[in-house]
Amino acid sequence: MNCLICLKSLPESARIQYHGACLGQLFGTRKVNLALAESRKDLVTAIPRKTHGFSISGVQMKAQLAIEAGKLKLVDSNGQFIMKPSPEEYPYVAENEHATLTLMRRVGFPVPPCGLISLKDDHLVFVIRRYDRDIESGARTHQEDAMQALGISNADSSQKYTAASYQEVIELVIEHGGMAVAMELLERLVFSYLVGNDDHHLKNISFFHEPVFKLTPCYDVLASALYSSMAESPMALKMLENGEPEYYGTMGNGYFAGSDFVELGVKAGLIGKAVKNRITSLARKVQKTAPAIIEASFMPEEMKDRYQALISDRLRFVSLMEPGAE
Ligand SMILES: Nc1ncnc2c1ncn2[C@@H]1O[C@H](COP(=O)(O)OP(=O)(O)OP(=O)(O)O)[C@@H](O)[C@H]1O
Ligand SMILES: [Mg+2]
Ligand SMILES: [Zn+2]
Repeated sequence: MNCLICLKSLPESARIQYHGACLGQLFGTRKVNLALAESRKDLVTAIPRKTHGFSISGVQMKAQLAIEAGKLKLVDSNGQFIMKPSPEEYPYVAENEHATLTLMRRVGFPVPPCGLISLKDDHLVFVIRRYDRDIESGARTHQEDAMQALGISNADSSQKYTAASYQEVIELVIEHGGMAVAMELLERLVFSYLVGNDDHHLKNISFFHEPVFKLTPCYDVLASALYSSMAESPMALKMLENGEPEYYGTMGNGYFAGSDFVELGVKAGLIGKAVKNRITSLARKVQKTAPAIIEASFMPEEMKDRYQALISDRLRFVSLMEPGAE
């Protein structure tokens, strides 16, 4: 049996499905009552209407949680955690997001503590600590997403896919935060591509302005391509401001090569050689780390197989680096 937080194995004698230390890291205490709801249906019905949010085809609900008197509870505002049950139409999204973010942390990205909570009907719910709240004091750190940073109105939610290209977002980050921060964003985009996260839109990129401009920790990263058809683009936004990157544009096989991400970086103002090195090193880490994490995860076996096959596929394309690399 594996821990629902770190995915590592538990001792035979374990009476709950967590390491005590993992509970402490996620919830700030080892003593917390996690009996959130009897079933997925009860939980979804209890979610406050105004916090309903929509993800995959507008069906993924999320809500805030807080610990009150030692018990985890749904709250309208000022929660310390965000929870997302799997949408009815897309089973195992919670398990998928948990495995993907765990992999992301393991290869070196900043990821808030997160885990799964088991309901009485055995449904697993994804829970992540809010990175914009201090768990002790409740103090807030202001964050802004890329839509807001680009000054685009949020009136029409499809704008998060169409209002800008990754190139423009990286340019904005170079301007406000410099090359190192921009490189980190590019690396997160490559990670999304490697794991089939085809929903890395403008509201899934966020920044802190204080004390210095930087990316927030990672959130909302999962292998969403396992639920979509091949006809859809593997990346949520257009890569370049004008035209398509060379490999993707000329090959027309629906895949981006590593060289396409190098081209994106260079067009945005990063140094090609540095981008190439970072991509190569990331791909190596993902190749090494992903199999064990996918295997240890709570996704069903057939989904694990498809996930691993997807990553192997993407790694092959990312290793294509020749053009535009210098
Ligand atoms: N751990 C976190 N700490 C603080 N804020 C977060 C965290 N996770 C998510 N958020 C904020 O909440 C918003 C919604 O969360 P998330 O993107 O995970 O949900 P979603 O329903 O899948 O969104 P989408 O609209 O992208 O489908 C994010 O855009 C981000 O601003
Ligand atoms: Mg999101
Ligand atoms: Zn653990």
